[in-house]
Amino acid sequence: MGKVIALANQKGGVGKTTCAINLGGALAQLGNTVLCIDLDPQANLTVGLGVDLGSVERGMANVLIEPEASLASIILHTTTKHLDVAPTNIDLSAAEVELFSAIGREMALRDKLTKEIVERYDYILIDCPPTLGLLTLNALVSANGVIIPVQTQYYALKGVAALLKIIKTVQDRLNPKLKVLGMLPTFYDSRTILGRDMLDSLRDLGDHQVFRTVIRQSVKIGEAPTAGVPITAYDPKSDAAKAFIDLAKEVANAH
Ligand SMILES: Nc1ncnc2c1ncn2[C@@H]1O[C@H](COP(=O)(O)OP(=O)(O)OP(=O)(O)O)[C@@H](O)[C@H]1O
Ligand SMILES: [Mg+2]
Repeated sequence: MGKVIALANQKGGVGKTTCAINLGGALAQLGNTVLCIDLDPQANLTVGLGVDLGSVERGMANVLIEPEASLASIILHTTTKHLDVAPTNIDLSAAEVELFSAIGREMALRDKLTKEIVERYDYILIDCPPTLGLLTLNALVSANGVIIPVQTQYYALKGVAALLKIIKTVQDRLNPKLKVLGMLPTFYDSRTILGRDMLDSLRDLGDHQVFRTVIRQSVKIGEAPTAGVPITAYDPKSDAAKAFIDLAKEVANAH
Protein backbone atom coordinates (compact mmCIF):
# COMPACT_ATOMS: atom_id res chain seq x y z
CA MET A 1 0.00 0.00 0.00
CA GLY A 2 1.35 3.42 -0.96
CA LYS A 3 2.29 5.94 1.66
CA VAL A 4 0.64 9.29 1.15
CA ILE A 5 2.47 12.11 2.94
CA ALA A 6 1.48 15.78 3.14
CA LEU A 7 4.05 18.54 3.67
CA ALA A 8 2.14 21.14 5.63
CA ASN A 9 2.67 24.38 7.52
CA GLN A 10 0.59 27.48 6.97
CA LYS A 11 3.64 29.63 7.56
CA GLY A 12 5.19 30.65 4.26
CA GLY A 13 8.74 29.89 3.19
CA VAL A 14 9.54 27.22 5.78
CA GLY A 15 10.73 24.64 3.25
CA LYS A 16 7.59 22.64 2.37
CA THR A 17 8.21 22.62 -1.35
CA THR A 18 11.94 22.09 -0.92
CA CYS A 19 11.20 19.08 1.23
CA ALA A 20 8.65 17.66 -1.24
CA ILE A 21 11.08 17.93 -4.15
CA ASN A 22 14.17 16.69 -2.36
CA LEU A 23 12.59 14.01 -0.21
CA GLY A 24 10.92 12.85 -3.43
CA GLY A 25 14.29 12.80 -5.19
CA ALA A 26 15.95 10.96 -2.32
CA LEU A 27 13.19 8.34 -2.03
CA ALA A 28 13.41 7.79 -5.79
CA GLN A 29 17.17 7.41 -5.61
CA LEU A 30 16.71 4.74 -2.96
CA GLY A 31 14.67 2.79 -5.51
CA ASN A 32 11.12 3.87 -4.67
CA THR A 33 8.54 5.05 -7.17
CA VAL A 34 7.39 8.51 -6.12
CA LEU A 35 4.63 10.91 -7.14
CA CYS A 36 4.84 14.56 -6.05
CA ILE A 37 1.48 16.34 -6.11
CA ASP A 38 1.54 20.13 -6.39
CA LEU A 39 -1.36 21.45 -4.33
CA ASP A 40 -0.13 25.06 -4.21
CA PRO A 41 -1.29 27.59 -6.84
CA GLN A 42 2.20 29.16 -6.64
CA ALA A 43 3.31 26.04 -8.57
CA ASN A 44 6.81 26.09 -7.09
CA LEU A 45 6.95 22.31 -6.95
CA THR A 46 5.92 21.98 -10.58
CA VAL A 47 8.61 24.44 -11.70
CA GLY A 48 11.20 23.06 -9.27
CA LEU A 49 10.81 19.63 -10.84
CA GLY A 50 11.64 21.03 -14.24
CA VAL A 51 8.16 21.39 -15.74
CA ASP A 52 7.62 24.40 -18.02
CA LEU A 53 4.56 26.11 -16.51
CA GLY A 54 3.43 27.37 -19.91
CA SER A 55 3.01 23.77 -21.03
CA VAL A 56 0.69 22.81 -18.17
CA GLU A 57 -2.75 22.94 -19.76
CA ARG A 58 -4.35 20.50 -17.37
CA GLY A 59 -3.31 20.12 -13.79
CA MET A 60 -4.55 19.66 -10.25
CA ALA A 61 -7.26 22.30 -10.75
CA ASN A 62 -8.91 20.06 -13.34
CA VAL A 63 -8.49 16.97 -11.19
CA LEU A 64 -10.18 18.61 -8.18
CA ILE A 65 -13.03 20.26 -10.07
CA GLU A 66 -13.95 17.95 -12.94
CA PRO A 67 -15.61 14.72 -11.78
CA GLU A 68 -14.32 12.79 -14.80
CA ALA A 69 -10.73 14.08 -14.72
CA SER A 70 -8.39 11.42 -13.36
CA LEU A 71 -5.14 12.05 -11.56
CA ALA A 72 -3.39 9.65 -13.93
CA SER A 73 -4.35 11.82 -16.90
CA ILE A 74 -2.23 14.78 -15.76
CA ILE A 75 0.84 12.99 -14.34
CA LEU A 76 4.17 13.80 -15.99
CA HIS A 77 7.53 12.07 -15.71
CA THR A 78 10.41 14.19 -14.48
CA THR A 79 14.03 13.87 -15.59
CA THR A 80 14.67 11.95 -12.36
CA LYS A 81 14.10 8.23 -12.68
CA HIS A 82 11.09 6.91 -10.70
CA LEU A 83 9.96 10.48 -9.86
CA ASP A 84 6.66 11.73 -11.32
CA VAL A 85 4.78 14.97 -10.77
CA ALA A 86 1.11 15.93 -10.77
CA PRO A 87 1.58 19.54 -11.88
CA THR A 88 -0.46 22.63 -11.19
CA ASN A 89 -0.78 26.10 -12.58
CA ILE A 90 -2.41 29.30 -11.35
CA ASP A 91 -5.89 27.89 -12.19
CA LEU A 92 -5.71 26.11 -8.85
CA SER A 93 -6.53 29.40 -7.10
CA ALA A 94 -9.87 29.65 -8.89
CA ALA A 95 -10.43 25.94 -8.40
CA GLU A 96 -10.13 26.33 -4.63
CA VAL A 97 -12.83 29.02 -4.71
CA GLU A 98 -15.05 26.83 -6.88
CA LEU A 99 -14.45 23.85 -4.65
CA PHE A 100 -15.69 25.82 -1.69
CA SER A 101 -19.33 25.41 -2.69
CA ALA A 102 -19.02 21.80 -3.86
CA ILE A 103 -20.52 18.88 -1.98
CA GLY A 104 -17.82 16.72 -0.43
CA ARG A 105 -15.32 19.51 -0.88
CA GLU A 106 -12.87 18.06 1.67
CA MET A 107 -12.83 14.75 -0.20
CA ALA A 108 -12.06 16.03 -3.69
CA LEU A 109 -8.44 14.86 -3.64
CA ARG A 110 -9.06 11.66 -1.72
CA ASP A 111 -11.68 10.63 -4.28
CA LYS A 112 -9.04 10.96 -7.02
CA LEU A 113 -6.39 8.98 -5.15
CA THR A 114 -7.82 5.73 -6.46
CA LYS A 115 -6.49 2.33 -5.47
CA GLU A 116 -4.86 2.10 -8.88
CA ILE A 117 -2.87 5.31 -8.38
CA VAL A 118 -1.94 4.63 -4.77
CA GLU A 119 -0.70 1.15 -5.65
CA ARG A 120 1.35 2.45 -8.57
CA TYR A 121 3.65 4.42 -6.23
CA ASP A 122 5.64 3.59 -3.14
CA TYR A 123 5.27 7.19 -1.95
CA ILE A 124 2.95 10.04 -2.81
CA LEU A 125 4.07 13.44 -1.47
CA ILE A 126 1.62 16.35 -1.38
CA ASP A 127 3.01 19.89 -1.30
CA CYS A 128 0.55 22.21 0.51
CA PRO A 129 0.13 25.98 0.13
CA PRO A 130 0.96 28.33 3.04
CA THR A 131 -2.66 28.51 4.26
CA LEU A 132 -5.00 26.39 6.36
CA GLY A 133 -7.65 26.49 3.64
CA LEU A 134 -9.46 23.90 1.63
CA LEU A 135 -6.40 22.74 -0.33
CA THR A 136 -4.41 21.92 2.80
CA LEU A 137 -7.51 20.29 4.28
CA ASN A 138 -7.83 18.12 1.17
CA ALA A 139 -4.21 17.06 1.58
CA LEU A 140 -4.70 16.15 5.26
CA VAL A 141 -7.86 14.19 4.47
CA SER A 142 -6.01 12.23 1.76
CA ALA A 143 -2.76 11.53 3.57
CA ASN A 144 -1.77 8.87 6.08
CA GLY A 145 1.25 10.89 7.19
CA VAL A 146 2.12 14.54 7.61
CA ILE A 147 5.54 16.16 7.85
CA ILE A 148 5.70 19.66 9.33
CA PRO A 149 8.77 21.60 8.19
CA VAL A 150 9.71 24.15 10.87
CA GLN A 151 12.29 26.88 10.45
CA THR A 152 14.80 26.88 13.27
CA GLN A 153 14.29 30.59 13.73
CA TYR A 154 12.69 32.83 16.26
CA TYR A 155 8.98 32.83 15.46
CA ALA A 156 9.02 29.45 13.81
CA LEU A 157 6.80 27.68 16.30
CA LYS A 158 4.15 30.34 16.18
CA GLY A 159 1.30 28.84 14.25
CA VAL A 160 2.33 25.22 14.66
CA ALA A 161 -0.23 24.85 17.48
CA ALA A 162 -3.01 25.96 15.11
CA LEU A 163 -1.87 23.43 12.54
CA LEU A 164 -1.74 20.63 15.12
CA LYS A 165 -5.27 21.54 16.18
CA ILE A 166 -6.55 21.20 12.61
CA ILE A 167 -4.69 17.91 12.25
CA LYS A 168 -6.37 16.68 15.45
CA THR A 169 -9.81 17.66 14.11
CA VAL A 170 -9.10 15.89 10.82
CA GLN A 171 -7.98 12.78 12.74
CA ASP A 172 -11.13 12.83 14.88
CA ARG A 173 -13.67 13.63 12.19
CA LEU A 174 -12.44 12.82 8.72
CA ASN A 175 -9.28 10.75 8.59
CA PRO A 176 -8.31 8.57 11.58
CA LYS A 177 -5.38 7.16 9.57
CA LEU A 178 -3.52 10.47 9.58
CA LYS A 179 -0.31 10.35 11.59
CA VAL A 180 2.12 13.17 12.33
CA LEU A 181 5.40 11.67 11.13
CA GLY A 182 7.34 14.51 12.63
CA MET A 183 8.49 18.07 12.57
CA LEU A 184 11.40 18.69 10.27
CA PRO A 185 13.88 21.36 11.37
CA THR A 186 14.83 23.47 8.34
CA PHE A 187 17.12 26.42 7.56
CA TYR A 188 19.35 25.29 10.42
CA ASP A 189 22.46 27.33 11.05
CA SER A 190 24.61 25.75 13.73
CA ARG A 191 26.80 28.87 13.89
CA THR A 192 24.05 30.87 15.54
CA ILE A 193 22.97 30.52 19.14
CA LEU A 194 19.41 31.19 17.99
CA GLY A 195 19.46 28.23 15.61
CA ARG A 196 20.82 25.89 18.28
CA ASP A 197 18.35 27.19 20.88
CA MET A 198 15.45 26.72 18.50
CA LEU A 199 16.44 23.17 17.71
CA ASP A 200 16.72 22.40 21.42
CA SER A 201 13.35 23.94 22.21
CA LEU A 202 11.74 22.06 19.32
CA ARG A 203 13.10 18.79 20.68
CA ASP A 204 12.08 19.74 24.25
CA LEU A 205 8.46 20.31 23.27
CA GLY A 206 8.17 16.57 23.45
CA ASP A 207 4.58 16.12 22.32
CA HIS A 208 5.56 15.39 18.75
CA GLN A 209 8.34 13.52 17.11
CA VAL A 210 11.12 15.64 15.61
CA PHE A 211 13.14 14.08 12.82
CA ARG A 212 16.75 13.34 13.69
CA THR A 213 17.71 14.72 10.29
CA VAL A 214 18.11 18.48 10.21
CA ILE A 215 18.04 20.45 6.95
CA ARG A 216 20.72 23.09 7.10
CA GLN A 217 20.75 26.44 5.44
CA SER A 218 22.47 25.76 2.13
CA VAL A 219 23.12 27.73 -1.06
CA LYS A 220 22.91 24.51 -3.08
CA ILE A 221 19.38 23.80 -1.83
CA GLY A 222 18.32 27.22 -3.04
CA GLU A 223 19.99 26.68 -6.43
CA ALA A 224 18.72 23.20 -7.29
CA PRO A 225 15.12 24.21 -8.17
CA THR A 226 16.38 26.69 -10.76
CA ALA A 227 17.92 23.68 -12.52
CA GLY A 228 14.59 21.84 -12.20
CA VAL A 229 16.02 18.83 -10.36
CA PRO A 230 16.25 17.56 -6.77
CA ILE A 231 19.49 18.19 -4.87
CA THR A 232 20.31 14.47 -5.15
CA ALA A 233 20.71 15.05 -8.91
CA TYR A 234 22.02 18.63 -8.76
CA ASP A 235 24.86 17.89 -6.36
CA PRO A 236 24.74 14.27 -5.20
CA LYS A 237 27.86 14.56 -3.05
CA SER A 238 26.71 17.62 -1.12
CA ASP A 239 25.85 17.49 2.58
CA ALA A 240 22.35 18.67 1.65
CA ALA A 241 21.83 15.69 -0.67
CA LYS A 242 23.04 13.36 2.08
CA ALA A 243 20.64 14.98 4.55
CA PHE A 244 17.67 14.27 2.29
CA ILE A 245 18.81 10.66 1.85
CA ASP A 246 18.94 10.39 5.65
CA LEU A 247 15.47 11.92 5.86
CA ALA A 248 14.18 9.46 3.26
CA LYS A 249 15.47 6.58 5.36
CA GLU A 250 13.83 8.01 8.48
CA VAL A 251 10.53 8.41 6.63
CA ALA A 252 10.75 4.85 5.33
CA ASN A 253 11.13 3.64 8.91
CA ALA A 254 8.43 5.91 10.33
CA HIS A 255 5.52 3.81 9.08
N1 LIG B 1 17.73 24.70 3.66
C1 LIG B 1 17.65 25.74 2.81
N2 LIG B 1 18.73 26.51 2.58
C2 LIG B 1 18.65 27.56 1.74
N3 LIG B 1 17.58 27.92 1.04
C3 LIG B 1 16.46 27.20 1.22
C4 LIG B 1 16.43 26.07 2.11
N4 LIG B 1 15.19 25.53 2.08
C5 LIG B 1 14.48 26.29 1.23
N5 LIG B 1 15.23 27.28 0.70
C6 LIG B 1 14.78 28.34 -0.22
O1 LIG B 1 13.89 29.18 0.51
C7 LIG B 1 12.74 29.50 -0.24
C8 LIG B 1 11.49 28.98 0.46
O2 LIG B 1 11.53 27.56 0.51
P1 LIG B 1 10.27 26.70 0.06
O3 LIG B 1 9.71 27.24 -1.21
O4 LIG B 1 10.65 25.28 0.09
O5 LIG B 1 9.29 27.02 1.25
P2 LIG B 1 7.70 26.78 1.29
O6 LIG B 1 7.36 26.49 2.70
O7 LIG B 1 7.30 25.79 0.27
O8 LIG B 1 7.18 28.21 0.86
P3 LIG B 1 5.64 28.59 0.53
O9 LIG B 1 4.98 28.66 1.87
O10 LIG B 1 5.70 29.90 -0.15
O11 LIG B 1 5.09 27.51 -0.33
C9 LIG B 1 12.97 28.90 -1.61
O12 LIG B 1 13.53 29.87 -2.45
C10 LIG B 1 13.95 27.78 -1.36
O13 LIG B 1 14.76 27.51 -2.49
MG1 LIG C 1 5.87 25.93 -1.22
